[in-house]
Amino acid sequence: MASTPLLDVADLSIAFGPHRAVDSISFHIHAGQTLGLVGESGSGKSATSLAVLRLLAPNAQVNGTITFDGQPLLSLPEAAMRRHRGRNISMIFQEPMTALNPVMPIGSQIAEAVEAHHPELSRRAIKNKVLEAMHQVALPDPERRLRDYPHQFSGGQRQRILIAMALVNQPRLLIADEPTTALDVTVQAQILALLRDLRDQHNLAMLFISHDLAVVSQACNQPADRLAVMQHGRIVEQALARDLFLSPQHPYTRSLLASAPTMHTDRRLPLASLAESR
Ligand SMILES: Nc1ncnc2c1ncn2[C@@H]1O[C@H](COP(=O)(O)OP(=O)(O)O)[C@@H](O)[C@H]1O
Ligand SMILES: [Mg+2]
Repeated sequence: MASTPLLDVADLSIAFGPHRAVDSISFHIHAGQTLGLVGESGSGKSATSLAVLRLLAPNAQVNGTITFDGQPLLSLPEAAMRRHRGRNISMIFQEPMTALNPVMPIGSQIAEAVEAHHPELSRRAIKNKVLEAMHQVALPDPERRLRDYPHQFSGGQRQRILIAMALVNQPRLLIADEPTTALDVTVQAQILALLRDLRDQHNLAMLFISHDLAVVSQACNQPADRLAVMQHGRIVEQALARDLFLSPQHPYTRSLLASAPTMHTDRRLPLASLAESR
């Protein structure tokens, strides 16, 4: 891809006091492309995604550059950053129940996301956007379910509501941090398919994060999609997803591959157990 990437992260380091959580990592993502970021718990994946939105705790020291659409995010004034968040750059998190307000109807919650960036819109225009977003994520019967509360939906439907909230302002970059980890496998596959479809329809750049290589392999299904493997705050290997599955170079990547079946794994071979690969 010759064009300028939408998101360009260069030499990003994040420290919490003496602890280096992220150590000089670099990656970029083009419109319409997914970068899968995979690594074990504590390897620095969430810290990386929060750095892009500048939502890290105040005790974090951040170095390096993060460029979004040509703008250096780390030096932007907070007001300009706030205009990006939930507008041009959106994020969906792991836990649909904690990310939603339990005492507010879901339609009002999606509407709030619109109002935050479009205070000029009429109530009717906002409602239309909410219904359209609910329709896009295939929530059944949007008009009737607007007034329902989060607990009246299944886990998969709640994740769809969060995706609707993330997409309602038509962002260009979507960060999905373990978006399916709390869901059972069948629902996981449905949400992954939805995310892939939405990315393709809207030409979204997607940063897709998971500790689970099998899940990341399903998110990175296009030829240009890339995969970065993180370990102890470093990216130890980064390549086109299909190349990485076919010929992993780093021992850690090989151990991840050996312990998880992916779309690209030869299913005739027996699976090595995690214990063997460590
Ligand atoms: N606010 C914080 N204060 C101190 N340490 C933190 C904070 N947030 C994350 N960390 C540490 O940074 C490292 C990376 O965390 P994280 O990015 O959440 O990992 P991952 O998402 O890959 O599981 C971990 O060692 C974690 O304990
Ligand atoms: Mg995390």
